[in-house]
Amino acid sequence: MSKNINIAIDGPAGAGKSTVAKLVAEKLSYIYIDTGAMYRALTLKGLRKETDLENGLELSTLLAQTKIDLRVIEGNQKVFLDGEDVTSEIRSSEVTNNVSFVARQKEVRQEMVKRQKQLAKEGGVVMDGRDIGTHVLPDASLKVFLSASVDKRAERRYKELIENSVEADLETIKSEIALRDKRDTEREVSPLIKAEDAIEINTTSLTIGDVVQQIMSLVKERA
Ligand code: DC
Repeated sequence: MSKNINIAIDGPAGAGKSTVAKLVAEKLSYIYIDTGAMYRALTLKGLRKETDLENGLELSTLLAQTKIDLRVIEGNQKVFLDGEDVTSEIRSSEVTNNVSFVARQKEVRQEMVKRQKQLAKEGGVVMDGRDIGTHVLPDASLKVFLSASVDKRAERRYKELIENSVEADLETIKSEIALRDKRDTEREVSPLIKAEDAIEINTTSLTIGDVVQQIMSLVKERA
């Protein structure tokens, strides 16, 4: 590969972004950045400190005193909040059901976008989220928008939880995903939309391997 480009991967919850982004990053020896984990980490801190999650100013003050690190340890992606490993805790349903409130605060997004741009400034990054192609890396050499039906996304999430021995109910997951989609696409600041120059891949009937292969072909064209 001739140069280290940046790759933006956006899409709704459960479209397969993080799995695919991680594999693409591995194949290219690039750095994978899960921006959702950053919003989740701040949400966790806000919940612990009983911050008003609807108050952007309070949250941005909290964020200014917060260190969020994404590290790979023995091949596993880990998330550290002020030095504490919170990789599992940020996936709890409490965090999942509250993160949209935090992610819609403009003061929070401004700072997060700043930190994310900084992480990508040397190139060689695969970043996934909701606004990567539109706001964080508008000049990314490759922008991909992954989509899939709500039913399929809920089914994948359900399987993932069961495989991790977490109790789950498919109908509940489906309605939570639909609600999160609504909040993410209808929020005022940086709503989830496909960047004009992003390539959409509908993953409903594709395997992870198919999607990775399609992205790798696109990378070869652009790098
Ligand atoms: O990808 P995820 O489910 O871990 O994201 C958690 C939440 O954060 C989700 O509700 C959308 C929001 N998010 C965002 O608004 N912008 C991003 N770049 C990444 C995530």
